[in-house]
Amino acid sequence: MEKRPYVIIVSEVSIDGKLTLYRGASSKELMSLMDKEAYRYLHEIRAKVDGIMVGCETVRTDNPSLTVRYVKGKNPTRVIPCSTANVPLDSNVLNTEEAPTIIATTQRAPKERVEKIKEKGAQVIFAGDELVDFDILLPKLYDMGIRTLMVEGGSSINWEFVRRRAVNEIRLIHLPVIVGGENVPTLVGGEGFKKLKDILHLRLRSHFKRGNQLITEWEVAG
Ligand SMILES: NC(=O)c1ccc[n+]([C@@H]2O[C@H](COP(=O)([O-])OP(=O)(O)OC[C@H]3O[C@@H](n4cnc5c(N)ncnc54)[C@H](OP(=O)(O)O)[C@@H]3O)[C@@H](O)[C@H]2O)c1
Repeated sequence: MEKRPYVIIVSEVSIDGKLTLYRGASSKELMSLMDKEAYRYLHEIRAKVDGIMVGCETVRTDNPSLTVRYVKGKNPTRVIPCSTANVPLDSNVLNTEEAPTIIATTQRAPKERVEKIKEKGAQVIFAGDELVDFDILLPKLYDMGIRTLMVEGGSSINWEFVRRRAVNEIRLIHLPVIVGGENVPTLVGGEGFKKLKDILHLRLRSHFKRGNQLITEWEVAG
């Protein structure tokens, strides 16, 4: 892909790589363990990027605001891939007085739902027929001025970036806990690469502590 934003995946993960307590659980519960210092780290990144993305499922389960709160700075544009535009109309990302929002959807989205989202002040863009097609979406976002994009999950969306190698950095806030569980979402979901020759290689750029959390910052190699 020639034109796409510089992409940074940022996530809070348990030591066993889980994003939440069980499938369908809001990660806000697990994140309540995080120190203020780690929140500040997360929000410092938000304040520096043009756009911030989470998947539609994260909007439905966590109802995040995706705004900058723990530090001073400008709110990034929120981008939500949502193939049938099934975003609850009372969700925080549709509070467009706080920050601009783009709902990326497909031809499958019912017209009435699209109109209601537009009435809330969000922009709706179309990319793909089935699921949102990131090969179409990412160049569009670039053309709309989103040159740096922070991706905050969940695991399905992270996989979309990882599988097409459309990610430049991964930054992790490690919570010093083990969650366990076979089907609990981990940092990256999807089908997985399966072959050793295909897996994504990373280079550790830095590691440090913020409060009680280890932070690791990784660059995608080659
Ligand atoms: N710890 C953390 O940092 C963190 C961060 C974020 C989320 N989470 C947790 O992660 C969990 C959600 O993760 P998730 O993997 O289930 O969902 P997700 O990645 O947040 O969202 C996936 C949804 O996005 C939509 N979508 C549109 N185009 C897509 C495409 N090309 N590929 C994949 N999905 C596409 C689909 O919904 P439609 O069918 O409606 O289009 C799909 O179900 C929640 O439990 C949340 O609490 C944790």
